[in-house]
Amino acid sequence: MKSTNFYVAMLAAGLLSFSACNQSTKQSTKMTDSTTVGQLPAASGFEKTIDGKTTKLYMLKNSKGVQAAITNYGGRLVSLLVPDKKGTMVDVIAGPASVDDYESAKSNYYGALIGRYGNRIGNAKFTLDGKEYKLPANNGPNTLHGGKEGFDGKVWDAKQVDATTLELSYTSADGEQGFPGTLKTTVTYKLTDDNALEIHYSATTDKNTVVNLTNHSYFNLNGCGSGSILKHSLQLAADNFTPVDKTLIPTGKIAPVQSTPFDFRKATTIGARINEGDEQLKNGQGYDHNFVLNQHTLQTPIATVLGDVSGIEMEVFTEEPGIQFYSGNFMKGEFKFKGDVKDDNRTAFALETQHFPDSPNKPSFPSTELKPGQTYKTTTIYKFSAK
Ligand code: BGC
Repeated sequence: MKSTNFYVAMLAAGLLSFSACNQSTKQSTKMTDSTTVGQLPAASGFEKTIDGKTTKLYMLKNSKGVQAAITNYGGRLVSLLVPDKKGTMVDVIAGPASVDDYESAKSNYYGALIGRYGNRIGNAKFTLDGKEYKLPANNGPNTLHGGKEGFDGKVWDAKQVDATTLELSYTSADGEQGFPGTLKTTVTYKLTDDNALEIHYSATTDKNTVVNLTNHSYFNLNGCGSGSILKHSLQLAADNFTPVDKTLIPTGKIAPVQSTPFDFRKATTIGARINEGDEQLKNGQGYDHNFVLNQHTLQTPIATVLGDVSGIEMEVFTEEPGIQFYSGNFMKGEFKFKGDVKDDNRTAFALETQHFPDSPNKPSFPSTELKPGQTYKTTTIYKFSAK
């Protein structure tokens, strides 16, 4: 964007957020072109006591006026206001507006930090060092996103380091949800001045264990509550993906995306092939698959998504070898989102950076083991611009 345009955009954004702050209602307002003018939700909806701990809403803001709201209930990213092509601030995070509503919608993991093991572990068990560990099954026969009481339901200790940085910590006791070892976890959210949200994960253990942390934000780049995401375009730097069985456990194969609806190597709309009679699409009821990233450094984006109405582009950078692309297939319009809309089917998508699902049972996949003395450390970045 040229600097004059940028200045005009920022001025418009500033005026909008000023008027937003002066409105008595904290609901988002629908615009005629079907993007949504974003506002941060009221902090009061996040003040609650759960398991004797206080939940709150924390606000981050960079020098460009980009804002994020995060609650320590499940370490959830609640809102992210970024400028669209006209300079209007749009909340690109789809999700509820209060802790109560997040608790009701728990099964969808809106915005949450996921642990100890993001994605599925087959038949709710794994063997490590010759010992079998049994986990709670919470998704058919499998364990999904850490089990019945994963990190998404925990109240994290929060430390607001500065205006752009929030540090969240949670210690998971030895044996919690069946996993061995005391896992000390810290996740730092940082908003940078190039309009990126960085998520830094770290963890240590006192016994050999497995770990796979991720964030489960649901995005709609036209704004929360602005309708279907099927016209968003998606590009994924992945020549291969991991096909799954009917319960969404990888078969163990690494399959080429070439000549399948999973080929997003060129930007393609999410909806273009989603209803094709492909067996893998049937298994996921749409896209709900792990893509094997060609490279995973913080230098090159591995995913790029464009909101068709807003012109907001999101680039994803990660150090993780995989990414789960989930097209919101199990959203059923049963829960409430910000702006008093429902979480209708496919009105948001998730891009969860991760190690591959069921790795503890798949020796050929990159290992998720963590040993005492080692530090699990990984970063994922979601970066925004508009065109
Ligand atoms: C899973 C989906 C699941 C969704 C919400 C995704 O990571 O792959 O199958 O429905 O999370 O729980």
